[in-house]
Amino acid sequence: MVQKENSVIFPEINTPRLALIELKASDDVAVFNLFSNHKVVEYYDLEVFSHIEQARSLIDLFQTRHAASLGIRWAIYLKSSGGVIGTCGFNSWSQTMRSAVIGYDLLPDFWGNGYATEAVCAAIQAAFSGGLVCGALNRIQADTVPGNDASETLLRRLGFKEEGLRRESGYWKGAFHDLKCFGLLQSEFTPPIANSP
Ligand SMILES: CC(C)(COP(=O)(O)OP(=O)(O)OC[C@H]1O[C@@H](n2cnc3c(N)ncnc32)[C@H](O)[C@@H]1OP(=O)(O)O)[C@@H](O)C(=O)NCCC(=O)NCCS
Repeated sequence: MVQKENSVIFPEINTPRLALIELKASDDVAVFNLFSNHKVVEYYDLEVFSHIEQARSLIDLFQTRHAASLGIRWAIYLKSSGGVIGTCGFNSWSQTMRSAVIGYDLLPDFWGNGYATEAVCAAIQAAFSGGLVCGALNRIQADTVPGNDASETLLRRLGFKEEGLRRESGYWKGAFHDLKCFGLLQSEFTPPIANSP
């Protein structure tokens, strides 16, 4: 755990190959590399970043959200290389509803190694067990754009169920987009990957 004076505790999580750590201002280049990649933002309501200031603003937004107990975003740190390879976390945290929406992204050079599954699984375990400031969640939701097959595979593998399609639910990059809604309940979750102590 990392706690600054008068601030909300930021939980850090270890998995066999990764550490989920607080996303800090010094991660601006890593975040820029991530979101300036067309492959990463292909299904996002986000234009590719063209300036490092956009990365700094995003990190600032994540930090502000966590300070207000409205969400959390970790840097995904790869132990073997000693670098940040992606991010994951929750937004739309509701302590009243005990629900949140999950998000995740990885640099394409690291796709296909199970890192995203490992990171997201650990984040879910923490959220369901009450290890985060939002209290123990009962439900985690994920929204994917049809065609984002890697994301869907990851969600299904962790036990998420497809709940329906919200037609033309979003408008970005000059077009309406359907959103597939996935949900996972605490009572259904069996973690397929063990965390490190
Ligand atoms: C979603 C994302 C994090 C997945 O990364 P990843 O490295 O493929 O993740 P993992 O290796 O942990 O597992 C993903 C699974 O999807 C599979 N997969 C990868 N690409 C796929 C594709 N095009 N079609 C179907 N399945 C695919 C992988 O094989 C793996 O399953 P397996 O372990 O059973 O083989 C990555 O694609 C990404 O960063 N995308 C851009 C950001 C994004 O869209 N985030 C999700 C928003 S909802």
